[in-house]
Amino acid sequence: MTTRLDIVAYTVPKLTDYSTDSLTQAFEDTRRAFRDEQSAISSEADWKAFRDRWMARKSGILTQINEQLKAAPKEAKKELGQHLNELKRFIDEVTNAWREYVEVIPRRVAISGESVDISLPGVRRPIGAEHPVTKTRNEIVSVFQRLGYSVAEGPVVETDYYNFEALNFPPNHPARDTQDTLFIAGQHSKPQRERLLLRTHTSPVQIRTMEKMRPPIRIVIPGTVHRNDPPDASHSPMFHQIEGLAVDTNITFGDLKGTLDHAMKALFGSNVKTHFRPSFFPFTEPSAELYVTCFICGGSGKRGSDPCRPCKQTGWIEVLGCGMVDPNVFEFVKDNGYDPKKVSGFAFGAGIDRLALLKYGVDDLQYFFQGDVRFLRQFG
Ligand code: PHE
Repeated sequence: MTTRLDIVAYTVPKLTDYSTDSLTQAFEDTRRAFRDEQSAISSEADWKAFRDRWMARKSGILTQINEQLKAAPKEAKKELGQHLNELKRFIDEVTNAWREYVEVIPRRVAISGESVDISLPGVRRPIGAEHPVTKTRNEIVSVFQRLGYSVAEGPVVETDYYNFEALNFPPNHPARDTQDTLFIAGQHSKPQRERLLLRTHTSPVQIRTMEKMRPPIRIVIPGTVHRNDPPDASHSPMFHQIEGLAVDTNITFGDLKGTLDHAMKALFGSNVKTHFRPSFFPFTEPSAELYVTCFICGGSGKRGSDPCRPCKQTGWIEVLGCGMVDPNVFEFVKDNGYDPKKVSGFAFGAGIDRLALLKYGVDDLQYFFQGDVRFLRQFG
């Protein structure tokens, strides 16, 4: 009997070149062939033939590869062995899922004598892991929820007005140059404040929320933002921020310091110390950058006898920008109860991805956006 398997059947190539590139390529080909053959299975006979071809002790494909490993030159053995182990793991996972489909389920169905027995447990599928960025975001949100903050969100495609103008970046002001903005094309016929762009920060949602809610307010705003930065180990054109805003009568810089100090201890451990350095943002005055003692080296700047990289040996790590809401910002929402003579407030904005990098000791931001299960599985 011929099966559809014959159409795509794979033969193990004889390895002659043991360079990293060609080994990677060879194993990639093998995995692809395995997937192709597996997707051609349409009967139990197919399944058995497939299983024998790949897994038979005597001359299955895995055994053949194992023999090549024995014959390989000494220097290549380690690398080849690692590839082979990974291939085995991959094949194991896929076949376990298939065995469930083709061996276990039909047997259960046969025993029950019905085509569907709803009392049987379902097929177990691998459960995904929460993405490290999502995990970090949820943790920060819940720290603030416990302080009585609620969550607000806003659009990613934003107008010039909310992203810049109402945050006290006047048109053509050089402060706009600090955020490499991605503008939506074809907007020039509109007045500047209506032109669309990809929001460069979550701060526009401060204005949007104050337009809707009268003071007092306490909100956190998680979301994605975009900037025209080429991707590298610490930059990405899309990343995540979380913004905070508290407005009431008599909110002071002391409230800002106390709140953020508490939040950092809740996130990174009670030993962490905070430190504020003067900075500038058009929408806060005074403004500051918040530093925490490096939780990798504990503030010493050293890891054993090596320099600590995440804090560049300074013992301090910058985690966010913050400050007291600039009265000019309140002017834009004055009609909704935000008279700068009566209310005051503080705001902060943090990069979630950067915090996640630091928290989990990941050395390249790009891992967060590639969707590689081998990376993500480590957070399960
Ligand atoms: N929006 C600022 C940024 O993206 C951060 C910030 C938010 C600073 C709120 C102060 C207050 O860089």
